[in-house]
Amino acid sequence: MSDLLEIADLTVSFDSDAGEIQAVDHISLTIRAGEVVGLVGESGSGKSVTAFAILRLIRRPGRVKSGTIRFNGVDLGTLSEEEMRQIRGAKIALISQSPRTALNPVITVGRQIARLFELHGGLSARDAHRRMLEMLSLVRIPDPAKRAGQYAHQLSGGMCQRVMIAMALATSPQLLIADEPTTGLDVSIAARILDLLRELGAKTGAAILLITHDLGVVAETADRVVVMHAGQVVESAPVRTLFHQPAHPYTRALVRSIPRVDRTVTMEPIPGAVPSLLDPPPGCRYAERCGWVSERCRIARPPLTRVVADHEVACYGFEERRDAAG
Ligand SMILES: Nc1ncnc2c1ncn2[C@@H]1O[C@H](COP(=O)(O)OP(=O)(O)O)[C@@H](O)[C@H]1O
Ligand SMILES: [Mg+2]
Repeated sequence: MSDLLEIADLTVSFDSDAGEIQAVDHISLTIRAGEVVGLVGESGSGKSVTAFAILRLIRRPGRVKSGTIRFNGVDLGTLSEEEMRQIRGAKIALISQSPRTALNPVITVGRQIARLFELHGGLSARDAHRRMLEMLSLVRIPDPAKRAGQYAHQLSGGMCQRVMIAMALATSPQLLIADEPTTGLDVSIAARILDLLRELGAKTGAAILLITHDLGVVAETADRVVVMHAGQVVESAPVRTLFHQPAHPYTRALVRSIPRVDRTVTMEPIPGAVPSLLDPPPGCRYAERCGWVSERCRIARPPLTRVVADHEVACYGFEERRDAAG
């Protein structure tokens, strides 16, 4: 698979009265065409900021301090605002965690979707209406003709999220960014939304960046997982590897903290708090929470290095243990 999105050395900070908040610190990650990549980390680790940076929607007091983001080989930073608007509207779609507020309250959901087909697809009103009904069936909304005539407030949270997915897919995007798409939904409905996302991704060929604080969410959905901690990428691996051979102490802690039905022990919370992002010290931001910490971790930031093909980790402790094991 070729690289669809390539983030290299991205740093985003926010100016505040107290100083500079380093929300995203020199991260790199790639998404290949058609791939589902899970971006995982505790709340505040910089996941949404990364999504906004991809869409070039970072606004003051935030700014992109370093890095490039390439989409289909094109550096998005070099595009005009108009060119970027077209990419946002059609090539990269965003599904947010609050679908109800993202929908227009005074326009029927059917009309909102049909409008996209008219605007982006150049379809006539009649063809757009037909495509809209197909879209609603595609996202498994029962009785599409009836639902199309309703407003957001008349639909359940799960239904609103299905409408958002239909809207996101209406322009046939190459990349779908789903930022906590199942937050606030009932567990069984959340599972169905994730199945739907995965299935539609495969059907349309769209790659998906699935952002979540819940490692359980990516287990069934993602091909590959990128783990963020306090603005840094600490590990990246195929989903099975991540669960069975997590390398970074933070990933290990995350995996241990997933509640499992086949375990009698309760989940273990991760000790310590996410460090302040205000003028953070050099070195690994997990150091204060880490059982493997040594002096060098506090001095220099560990680079992402290869464990095996497609598996990378940023941890001196892991390297030392691996080297000691020969
Ligand atoms: N508009 C903003 N102003 C100031 N700081 C911000 C702003 N948005 C995000 N941040 C900072 O960036 C950090 C990461 O935020 P975010 O990417 O939203 O985290 P999450 O991983 O939960 O999506 C926050 O903890 C906060 O310190
Ligand atoms: Mg977020």
